Amino acid sequence: MKEKELINQAIAASKKAYAPYSNFLVGAALLLENGEIIQGCNIENASFGLTNCAERTALFTAIAAGHKRFKKLAIYVDRPAFTAPCGACRQVIHELAPGIEIMLVNNRGEIKRTSDQELLPFSFGSADLES
Ligand code: THU
Repeated sequence: MKEKELINQAIAASKKAYAPYSNFLVGAALLLENGEIIQGCNIENASFGLTNCAERTALFTAIAAGHKRFKKLAIYVDRPAFTAPCGACRQVIHELAPGIEIMLVNNRGEIKRTSDQELLPFSFGSADLES
């Protein structure tokens, strides 16, 4: 089943995280409309502000590979709490994957379902730049 596979890939992605400063390992798995899955992990830097979150890594990797249509994003952290995307990632998700389904997955195998609209209501976006 695609959802189970998506979660497994988010878990696998979290193990690839480069997070020596926070030790907070985040994995993301992005399901494309064509059924492919693209992984992302957080990548930190000694200059902390340059850190890239797992969600943006997955989306940027997908865009750079020429993909434009996304169905679902799973986000995993090896903790009992659900980890929701940060504000910067919410803005990027809104731009690149509006309407995407988002699954937050904890280390108990539980899923919290949310969406771009729920995470970023009353948002700023490309339409605001028109006219
Ligand atoms: N982080 C993510 O990758 N995604 C999130 O949804 C929350 C935060 C990363 C950024 C940083 O490397 C570490 O987690 C701690 O903030």
